[in-house]
Amino acid sequence: MSTPEPGGVSRRAMLKGAGAAAFASVLGRGVQAQDGEEAPAQPKEEGLQSRGPEAVEVVFTLNGEETKLVVEPRVTLLDALRDRVGVTGTKRVCDRGACGACTVWLDGATVNACLLLAVDVAGAEVTTIEGLAGEAKLAPIQRAFVQCDAMQCGFCTSGMLMSCAALLRDVPRPTLEQTKHAVVGNLCRCGTYPHVFHAVQEAAQ
Ligand code: FES
Ligand code: FES
Repeated sequence: MSTPEPGGVSRRAMLKGAGAAAFASVLGRGVQAQDGEEAPAQPKEEGLQSRGPEAVEVVFTLNGEETKLVVEPRVTLLDALRDRVGVTGTKRVCDRGACGACTVWLDGATVNACLLLAVDVAGAEVTTIEGLAGEAKLAPIQRAFVQCDAMQCGFCTSGMLMSCAALLRDVPRPTLEQTKHAVVGNLCRCGTYPHVFHAVQEAAQ
């Protein structure tokens, strides 16, 4: 499986999608003409469905467990995880797709949780840092981060780990270039990159 770069979904693309859904919702209802008569409804675009503004139920798999949420369609996956489910390992830093601190896996692919709406993960499998090690205490890459001192303030660390773990899952012995590419969307203001690269090499052993 290839490892898509975090930030593959831009905020602009997400808002355009939300705008399209809202527009489709207006079309679907039929637009009220100014003279009070209902204008003929436009053909609905196949597959587009309006939701909200009231809360809707979302069912998805979170770290291997079925999870049900009732959220307004405006709520991002990041906010839903942290504020509704109480899973706070995924960090909110820029909240706009620029830093990668909120990186999680969606059906195995790395994504920025601040750029996804919670309603859009219905039926999908979401993995956060809490689920990375499975039954074990720490995943090999987490142990390597500790051994290699690959964190300082820690704000970037869970996102960085999710990107590195996805790389190691797909490429068991990555080159330095592949490692750099895998974390290109994860910003570390403490400058731990050399230690992160070392940790990936250690975990690959
Ligand atoms: S990219 Fe989501 S918090 Fe920065
Ligand atoms: S450890 Fe501080 S931002 Fe990366």
